[in-house]
Amino acid sequence: MRYYKDDIEALNVRFAEATPEELLRHFWEIYGDRIALSSSLSIEDQTLTDILMKICPEARVFTLDTGRLFPETYQLIDKTNLHYGIRMEVFCPQTEMLQRFVREQGINPFYESIEKRHACCHVRKLEPLGRAFQTLDAWICGLRREQSVTRTNMRKIEWDENHNVLKINPLIDWTEAQVWEYVKTHHVPYNKLHDKGYPSIGCEPCTRAVTPGEDIRAGRWWWESPEHRECGLHQR
Ligand code: ADX
Ligand code: SF4
Repeated sequence: MRYYKDDIEALNVRFAEATPEELLRHFWEIYGDRIALSSSLSIEDQTLTDILMKICPEARVFTLDTGRLFPETYQLIDKTNLHYGIRMEVFCPQTEMLQRFVREQGINPFYESIEKRHACCHVRKLEPLGRAFQTLDAWICGLRREQSVTRTNMRKIEWDENHNVLKINPLIDWTEAQVWEYVKTHHVPYNKLHDKGYPSIGCEPCTRAVTPGEDIRAGRWWWESPEHRECGLHQR
């Protein structure tokens, strides 16, 4: 049995009180290798990896390697693979498309305009994500409502109109403190940059450390206004 757009309301009612574990178990049993966790190696995604691997060690986990990630993030991919005895699927940008983009726009065009930033995110994240979706009917994400003004209306279970797949956000109601508590209690491997002032980590040129008291996403695309700070993966 597969779920479709019309099932979303009922699913959110049914799973309103469900734990992330109950949610992941249910959807993994239905979708098997047609569902995957989309991991940026954030504390949320590492938490979900831990929960998922305890339910089913064969469950699929993939990451989008933009080619511009921090060395610490690449180290964490290895560390996570080793810790869980898995091999995360890594989707890279398409060579021809990336070369054309860099030749025409330059290597770091994202600071010049929102359009150029979105174009870079398209080549380095969205096109590879599109390829991941060729084998998926559902995806799991580590989004949390309190992360940003762009995420306050997000729901636990959604229909992803852009990709025509079911989208599951098991941690949507969690606070940052809850995620950290899980990570520490279960000894989940995490990005060392979190201990150096980086609460939210994306590509290296588009992420900076934040000062105490600053918003957790203040270091992401910091030169843009908060309502623009999304890369298009979660456009609705
Ligand atoms: S972003 O859109 O601003 O980059 P964020 O870093 O908060 O997103 O991550 C939100 C969710 O999007 C993650 O929990 C993960 O599910 C997905 N995601 C973000 N970046 C990646 C990536 N590089 N690879 C795979 N999934 C990602
Ligand atoms: Fe390019 Fe920055 Fe988007 Fe990464 S976050 S894909 S470097 S614009």
